Amino acid sequence: MRPSRVGFGVLLHLVFSIGSSVVRGDYHWPSPFIDTLEGLLYEGKQEGLPDRAVDFVAQLLRCEPRVNNESIAADWIRFAYHDMATHNIDDGTGGLDNSITMELDRDESKFDFIDFPNKYLSYSDTTAMGVVLATVECGGPVIAYRGGRIDAKFPGPPGVPVPEQSAEDFIETFRKQGFTKEEMIALVACGHTLGGVRNPDFPTLVPPGDIEFENNIKLFDGTPQFDNTIVTSYLDGTTENLLVVGANGNTTLTSDLRVFGSDGNVTMKSLADPDHFAATCASLLGRMIDTVPRNVTLTDFIHPLPVKVAGVQLAPGNEDHLALNLTLRLSNNARQVTLHWADRDSESCSSGACSAAPINSTLVSTRLLQALGLSPVKYTFSTPIANTSVSKFWFEVDGKIENNGGSGYVIEQDRILFAPDRGAFGLLLKIVAAVRNDSTPSAVWMDTYQRDGVSTVERHPPVNLTLDESLPAAAGYNFYSASIPGSDLTLDLFAEIDGKVYEEEFRDTHFMA
Ligand code: HEM
Ligand SMILES: *[C@@H]1O[C@H](CO)[C@@H](O)[C@H](O)[C@H]1NC(C)=O
Ligand SMILES: *[C@@H]1O[C@H](CO)[C@@H](O)[C@H](O)[C@H]1NC(C)=O
Ligand SMILES: *[C@@H]1O[C@H](CO)[C@@H](O)[C@H](O)[C@H]1NC(C)=O
Ligand SMILES: *[C@@H]1O[C@H](CO)[C@@H](O)[C@H](O)[C@H]1NC(C)=O
Ligand SMILES: *[C@@H]1O[C@H](CO)[C@@H](O)[C@H](O)[C@H]1NC(C)=O
Ligand SMILES: *[C@@H]1O[C@H](CO)[C@@H](O)[C@H](O)[C@H]1NC(C)=O
Ligand SMILES: *[C@@H]1O[C@H](CO)[C@@H](O)[C@H](O)[C@H]1NC(C)=O
Ligand SMILES: *[C@@H]1O[C@H](CO)[C@@H](O)[C@H](O)[C@H]1NC(C)=O
Ligand SMILES: *[C@@H]1O[C@H](CO)[C@@H](O)[C@H](O)[C@H]1NC(C)=O
Repeated sequence: MRPSRVGFGVLLHLVFSIGSSVVRGDYHWPSPFIDTLEGLLYEGKQEGLPDRAVDFVAQLLRCEPRVNNESIAADWIRFAYHDMATHNIDDGTGGLDNSITMELDRDESKFDFIDFPNKYLSYSDTTAMGVVLATVECGGPVIAYRGGRIDAKFPGPPGVPVPEQSAEDFIETFRKQGFTKEEMIALVACGHTLGGVRNPDFPTLVPPGDIEFENNIKLFDGTPQFDNTIVTSYLDGTTENLLVVGANGNTTLTSDLRVFGSDGNVTMKSLADPDHFAATCASLLGRMIDTVPRNVTLTDFIHPLPVKVAGVQLAPGNEDHLALNLTLRLSNNARQVTLHWADRDSESCSSGACSAAPINSTLVSTRLLQALGLSPVKYTFSTPIANTSVSKFWFEVDGKIENNGGSGYVIEQDRILFAPDRGAFGLLLKIVAAVRNDSTPSAVWMDTYQRDGVSTVERHPPVNLTLDESLPAAAGYNFYSASIPGSDLTLDLFAEIDGKVYEEEFRDTHFMA
């Protein structure tokens, strides 16, 4: 029988990470949950190998509209609002929980972001991050971000307003979602600064396009930018927002007119100040994405880490020695950065004698970091390890020691290591683990976490890895492998040796695909 830790599920992992002090500000590496969210939020990349193939922001969150003026950024914000719209402040149910993907009549479950969730990243945390990134990519304000949303297993009640409704209905709908009338007015303006109304959805409002642009869309405020033109054009009477002007004097669908005017235009007039508009939207969109079921606890705000270690991989290299790969992100450029490590099986390196310089460095620049006035630098290390192994590492940055608050960056074990560069991606994904050859494991296995398509990340039943004779032993390690269907997934590797279970946790195969 396997030791019980194998039974720990994804939910339990998340609950433990959220409940721990890590997210209360005293960050300590490794914190894979925070590390994952922080990396995706600020670098547009997930935790894992530094050169992973998919860049969240670059591929999915450009503000430039598609050729027919549709906007990916707008899709994300509307999707998040509709998901959150099931919240009921009276009984604490519903909210941003990805239940949208299971609700009827909702053709919105197939957006680009579905390729991201993994063991630590829920669909709803991804959606919330999409709102933050879409807003800032389009020139809008910085929305503070928390993690910890949990994906629902069941659909929620209906809650999305439709434009035919009365002002009173809208006010009651937003009250149930947790917003006052004034907040409703501002939140709708903040949402409708992006995107517009589509012909296939509202053919009486929007004329069909020509053949090339059959999905014709009429922008609410004529600009793809996150700006307050939506407000100023409403106030000065120049707006072409179809939810204000309607079609041919027909006011059935003029929901924005009913919403914006519901307090005699007082709120809209205040939002004519662009700084007030930006600050109001940052606050209200932040509350929108933080609207979650009562039994879900979010983390504190995730600020950029001043020192970020990522992509740590110790593994047998090409020659007969171990190699250590990792990246270090610092807030600023440093003159000299050195990696030091301590040997696991001797004292020979402990004094700092074993060291390596970065192989390169690069400025990390994303819209969110720019908006925060930050330009961190990321150093890549890839060094052979002369002696048997590594127990911990640390850095010297311009003469100052950076050692994870005193403990060093500890590599818990070296009995089982992921060996990504010996794996392969073809019809099947071949996963390779390196196991130290000084004892024979009684079992080597892995848990994989895979997306079911659109709504959940599932931990699959364990798969055994077997000794792979086609991979010659190296650096004191034998290689074990298993081939499974799938492409990019996250996995945990385990080896049971002398009755004890060793784990190499949260590895990523994205780079292979
Ligand atoms: C009274 C409440 C609301 C009503 C009646 C309403 C109605 C609509 C309608 C009719 C459309 C056009 C959809 C289509 O053509 O498929 C739309 C689009 C949109 N709505 Fe709302 N909305 C409301 C509130 C909100 C809120 C609170 C947000 C976000 C904060 C939001 C964000 C968006 C976005 C971003 C789009 C554009 C989507 C795109 O272009 O892809 N809406 N809304
Ligand atoms: C896109 O929007 C611009 C500005 O409103 C407009 O001039 C252009 O015709 C639109 N293109 C399409 C394909 O609708
Ligand atoms: C007004 O628009 C609504 C929704 O498109 C439509 O059902 C209704 O027939 C229209 N009314 C008139 C008088 O055209
Ligand atoms: C609010 O502003 C709109 C647009 O200028 C205008 O049509 C409407 O009459 C105003 N409503 C009130 C109550 O002032
Ligand atoms: C929260 O409550 C809902 C409804 O009772 C339940 O389905 C869900 O599993 C709960 N979630 C958590 C994280 O406890
Ligand atoms: C470590 O980095 C080197 C240089 O980029 C790369 O060739 C190698 O595949 C990496 N090894 C692992 C185990 O990730
Ligand atoms: C730094 O080196 C790593 C590993 O070889 C590589 O993946 C990455 O693209 C390099 N970065 C830059 C900016 O050259
Ligand atoms: C590695 O270990 C050998 C002895 O096993 C020792 O002579 C050598 O100095 C060590 N290398 C380093 C860099 O400490
Ligand atoms: C995996 O290996 C364990 C221990 O050797 C064994 O008990 C189990 O049946 C194997 N599982 C599968 C699916 O082969
Ligand atoms: C383990 O690997 C080392 C280094 O590759 C080798 O010298 C040693 O003979 C191997 N031991 C066994 C039991 O295969």
